[in-house]
Amino acid sequence: MQRVAIVDPTESTRESLRTLLLGVDFVWLEAECARYEYFPDVVQTSGPDLAIVTLDGDRAKALAMIGQLSAAHPKMPILTISQDHQALLTSLQRGARYFLTHPVTLEDMLAALRRAVGESGGLEAAPAGLARAAGGCSVIAVLGSRGGVGTTTLAVNLAATLAADPAHAVALIDLDLTLGDADIALEVSGGETISIADLARNIERLDMNFLRRAMARHEPSRLSVLRHPLEVAEAGIVHEGHVERVVNLLKVSYTHLVVDLSKSLLPTDLMALRMADLILLTAQLELSSLRNVVRLVHCLNAEDGLGEKVRVVVNRQGSEAGDEGISPKKAEEVIGKPLFWQVPNDTKAVAGARVAGHPLVTHAPKSRAQQSIAGLARMLYGKPAAPDAAKGSKGGWGFFGKR
Ligand SMILES: Nc1ncnc2c1ncn2[C@@H]1O[C@H](COP(=O)(O)OP(=O)(O)OP(=O)(O)O)[C@@H](O)[C@H]1O
Ligand SMILES: [Mg+2]
Repeated sequence: MQRVAIVDPTESTRESLRTLLLGVDFVWLEAECARYEYFPDVVQTSGPDLAIVTLDGDRAKALAMIGQLSAAHPKMPILTISQDHQALLTSLQRGARYFLTHPVTLEDMLAALRRAVGESGGLEAAPAGLARAAGGCSVIAVLGSRGGVGTTTLAVNLAATLAADPAHAVALIDLDLTLGDADIALEVSGGETISIADLARNIERLDMNFLRRAMARHEPSRLSVLRHPLEVAEAGIVHEGHVERVVNLLKVSYTHLVVDLSKSLLPTDLMALRMADLILLTAQLELSSLRNVVRLVHCLNAEDGLGEKVRVVVNRQGSEAGDEGISPKKAEEVIGKPLFWQVPNDTKAVAGARVAGHPLVTHAPKSRAQQSIAGLARMLYGKPAAPDAAKGSKGGWGFFGKR
């Protein structure tokens, strides 16, 4: 946690700065000051890691004070905020290291804080929270090759498996805006019912506190969930710009974001696919699903080379219903791409977990489906195999050996 001191003689802007900072979980508002002339003493007493000075209360006084402050505390980064570009430039000449133009957006503030926190040495000694502040968040988009292939099952259970690691903070975003059902697979407890549509409606006023309140929590798995719009008619409220903003903000607080997409390749889906580090394309060993894999990869390749991020995951391998006797080898020939992972058909565990509203990792941790998903998580994030998982992964469920 990095300690911050602020000075701003104007009450209204000081108040908004305070609200902005209170929502950021890697900084602590150590001291607030309303007079430029007192600020050096405040800094001397409170010893913050970062000072934030808004210049517009009295630019001449503020700039003089910055010269004094940077001479007395050469190692402490100073961040200045003003409407006036000349004043910002002068503040840099006097020793400030960062500046933001007023009005300050949350994203700008977070980016500046991350740089300043990194510079003040906070990141080396930091626990997971600060590492995340440095931008260490993986975004995994989970896309289906048709309805019902297990996209939500994969997204929910991969997210919950990743969340089981105490070093991780994981959120699942339900972007299947019209008919999403991640909240059925995962019965979340308490809190207010805020959905992504509510965030979209309030996007201009969005701050970290509101965003945090929107994240429902599945306590047993430590997984946070951003719900799909509660009313079907609200789906249209959410636009790609909202998705971009919400994902960028969530990246500050989480190590992994798993996004369950719709099947319609809407602009909101495409935005998530562009922002993703990895796209898991869920398929089954049957013709229509495999044909759609080919079509989707082709389409994503045309979209700024998104196809390169795609990894095909076969679900319900070995099922009579979903498997038309097409072998994995044949499937690879059809799609012209290696299969990355296979998850076995495991109706008892998967259906049981769904009815219970819990992910496999808490409901049926030893099930074949969960062992396979744990293997997938290890394959993606390189954690050593847990003893149980290694035992359970015998029998051919898992990696096909090629990527
Ligand atoms: N590995 C599995 N073994 C057995 N059943 C499974 C498996 N994966 C998914 N299912 C079942 O398949 C059904 C569809 O799964 P899910 O809702 O995850 O698919 P989806 O692709 O998200 O569907 P939609 O198109 O509605 O979004 C569910 O009843 C689920 O329990
Ligand atoms: Mg689904």
